[in-house]
Amino acid sequence: MIGAYQIEARIGSGASGEVWRGRREGHVVAIKFMTDQPDPSGKYRRSLQAEVEALSVLRHPNIPRLYDADLEAERPYVVMQYVEGESLDRLIGSGGIFSVPLKQRVDALAQIGSALMAVHRQGIIHRDIKPGNIRGVTRPFLLDFSVAIRRAEVTAETQHIGTSLYMPPLGEALDEHSDYFAFGLVVYEVLFGRHALHGGDKMPATLDETRRLTTLQLRQGNWFRPTQLEALEMPGDLQGVNRGRLEALLARALGPRESRWPDPASFIQAVRETVLADENLPYVETVRAPIFNPLPSPVARPDTADGVAENVETAHPEQPARAQVFSRWVMVAVLVFSLVWLFIMSRYPL
Ligand SMILES: Nc1ncnc2c1ncn2[C@@H]1O[C@H](COP(=O)(O)OP(=O)(O)OP(=O)(O)O)[C@@H](O)[C@H]1O
Ligand SMILES: [Mg+2]
Repeated sequence: MIGAYQIEARIGSGASGEVWRGRREGHVVAIKFMTDQPDPSGKYRRSLQAEVEALSVLRHPNIPRLYDADLEAERPYVVMQYVEGESLDRLIGSGGIFSVPLKQRVDALAQIGSALMAVHRQGIIHRDIKPGNIRGVTRPFLLDFSVAIRRAEVTAETQHIGTSLYMPPLGEALDEHSDYFAFGLVVYEVLFGRHALHGGDKMPATLDETRRLTTLQLRQGNWFRPTQLEALEMPGDLQGVNRGRLEALLARALGPRESRWPDPASFIQAVRETVLADENLPYVETVRAPIFNPLPSPVARPDTADGVAENVETAHPEQPARAQVFSRWVMVAVLVFSLVWLFIMSRYPL
């Protein structure tokens, strides 16, 4: 028991917490507990706080409702609507995504796009859009607001949070379009069953290295473009699609920021019209997962030892941005003071 909730089974765990299925008076709920890792800088507590703040203002059929929270408990927790189904990253990883008919995959994407627009209407940026934070297909839910941030609170220091493989090219300011960029990658992944940029081999160890690599790949147009895929690499239900047209839609989502789709709704509408166009209709019932051939990459992957934690997990903010800027200035001041002191001492020894 925790508070009035009976704890039943663990659903999943991530960098900042653990999610359990629980029950109160017969009603099933999801309880996200803060991790039991030491939290000297308070970053895990802030993650939970961010989740509570975002969920408390969001009302959307594809975003879980917030029921309760206790951030002062020995192990702080948030209670929210329980979401049925499987996490999309698992469904994609297992190939199970191809047992979901194409039209339903597109409907799921439209629902997540709509949830994302609702988030933005509240002035919030999610910052961690990826399949691992979406659960369910028939009625998918957008989850994990642990690194969500108010648009008004974005500073230069808050730009580097997220999951590297889903972050926009380096140099881009953080705003709604950062989420839309990640959404573009999710759309690709739900349609093709693999990441648009990542071939499954080892990625660099750090968030920054991965971002440098993906930025370069995008600039060079070096992603798994539909027109360049072998027939076997195309999912069965996309065999008849006009690949050039689909590629143009995706390239717009992943391309230069100023020419990207204005919002997910217009993007998904165009995707729907293209993948469910007459030429592909004879194939939409064809269940066949693609067989990937790794594409030769002109980008040499940096040789790294181990540890891909930052690529698969969300990087959480270490400290509030302002504190970070402040401590940087304190360091600069101490350095300048020491140099002046040294100079004076060498000139006028005591
Ligand atoms: N309301 C919910 N109902 C059912 N399952 C949920 C719910 N919220 C989260 N989950 C599942 O629990 C797992 C972890 O959820 P979530 O992404 O919110 O936390 P996390 O990954 O631990 O956090 P972080 O990404 O900050 O490390 C995922 O598999 C997710 O699908
Ligand atoms: Mg997560």
